[in-house]
Amino acid sequence: MALANHTAILPRRAADGRYDLVVLANRLPVDHATDDDGRPCWRRSPGGLVTALHPIMKRRAGAWIGWHGRSGPAPTPFVHDGIHLHPIALTDDDVAGYYEGQSNATIWPLYHDAVEPPSFDRSWQEHYRAVNRRFAEAAARVAAPGALVWVHDYHLQLVPGMLRDLRPDLRIGFFLHIPFPPVELFCQMPMREEIMRGLLGADLVGFQHAQGTRNFRMLAADLAGAKVTDGGIWYEGRDVVAETFPISIDVAEQQRLAADPAVRARAAEIRRELGDPRTVMLAVDRLDYTKGIECRLRAYGELLAQGRLDPAETVMVQVAVPTRQQIDQYQALRERVEREVSRINGDHAGIGRVCVHYLHQSFDRAELAALYLAADVMAVTPLRDGMNLVAKEYAATRADGTGALVLSEFAGAAAELGEAWLVNPHDVDALKDAFADAAAADAAEQRRRMEPMRAHLRRHDVNAWATGFLNQLDRAPSGCASSASRARHVARAGDGARPHPVQCACRVGGSSSAEARGARSRTSHLAAGTRPIG
Ligand code: ADP
Ligand code: G6P
Repeated sequence: MALANHTAILPRRAADGRYDLVVLANRLPVDHATDDDGRPCWRRSPGGLVTALHPIMKRRAGAWIGWHGRSGPAPTPFVHDGIHLHPIALTDDDVAGYYEGQSNATIWPLYHDAVEPPSFDRSWQEHYRAVNRRFAEAAARVAAPGALVWVHDYHLQLVPGMLRDLRPDLRIGFFLHIPFPPVELFCQMPMREEIMRGLLGADLVGFQHAQGTRNFRMLAADLAGAKVTDGGIWYEGRDVVAETFPISIDVAEQQRLAADPAVRARAAEIRRELGDPRTVMLAVDRLDYTKGIECRLRAYGELLAQGRLDPAETVMVQVAVPTRQQIDQYQALRERVEREVSRINGDHAGIGRVCVHYLHQSFDRAELAALYLAADVMAVTPLRDGMNLVAKEYAATRADGTGALVLSEFAGAAAELGEAWLVNPHDVDALKDAFADAAAADAAEQRRRMEPMRAHLRRHDVNAWATGFLNQLDRAPSGCASSASRARHVARAGDGARPHPVQCACRVGGSSSAEARGARSRTSHLAAGTRPIG
């Protein structure tokens, strides 16, 4: 099945009720919620992963396997908004061990440059394995013969290997939505060889940024004994392709919202409600310690204190979407952020005039688009971020080319949106300069920067991202690699494309799993807390 364009990959539902395209992600695209009348309903789940995949899955009759957001038995499979949803059950212990523990207290901080120290707990690892197996078994049940199965994100890194053992006929893709860390950090992970073997079970492994792809190739050689050449990765008799696929947004939807008279009217109303200030600064993040909210507030507070921004003419709106509220680090962050917001308002606000509007809430996409239209300066300053879709949404919404985007160098989006005011988010003085410059920029300067970013996004929307990934996955030989593939690989290596002389801190010369286990004990000297840029 050759895939020329995305219309060619509209999946069929196989006659036996199984699917030609199956997506696995920790979360279903919907969460439990209650409507205005207090009745239970489904509401779209937060985060960039769902934002990216939702429009694609809506157009294709594929199946989405994921968690429905509560512990206890799983609802029976159902269709929502045209997507076939297959819920996975998690017990209370699974939620604590697999989701809050191994996924969000170990892997999440470790993969984000350890901006908060990762915690390690052996019991969490058991839950991580068990839940990954549950996902793999569910996919094995619903995937049609030869189906494309697309596994997403850091919660499910063991699934590709497990699924390959269960269903070698499938073509398996994996995409990591967050950064893949530098070798020195990854090697802190107690399950590091197992995770590498899990990921190498895929035919195609995708990353947001070229640096993540490079990190993965090095680790494939060092920890899993894969043969890494310029041509690809050869692992246990199969080709594995690792490539960079920067994720994007539904540009057409964003443009439609931006043109909607109701959204435009709401944007004008927001500005009025804010007191018609000269400058509206906006930030929209999950309330996550990777997002750099504290440094950003500190910079804004100092600009007000020094009179570089006038509190009578400037307003900041910080939307902080509730997230992972059971995890200690998130609770502590919320307290710190709320204290800083109160401090800034206490120092600089007046009666009926607030300096920081802090909204710990979720909004629908129309309200978010209205906020983007209302904002003169958009502050996207994460300490580390796989991509950051908010930055792309802001640029795509600004149809008249105005608006100033201040963007962290440590967000994946910086590789594509280089015309933004790029800034080191750890450097409060640099943040202050960037905010002040952006607030002072005239419309011509804003357009000079915004137009190329908008043109880039029109060419690289979420549809192009998904099509690129799925077309590449579709080219993978299904099942075990043929002898032709092996011959090709050997020929490539013999053609002067020698296996990479990959060197990394974990490398101990050998590559069997016993040797890799040895590597674990021999890397204990690695400095904890090293933060190389990855
Ligand atoms: P992350 O994936 O870490 O949450 P991203 O910026 O990549 O960060 O993606 C966040 C997504 O969540 C964006 O598509 C954004 O529009 C959406 N979003 C942000 N804030 C809200 C909110 N208050 N309510 C609903 N969705 C939101
Ligand atoms: C990021 C992750 C997603 C995750 C989302 C929301 O975007 O990459 O996998 O779904 O954050 O986090 P949550 O823990 O609420 O699912």
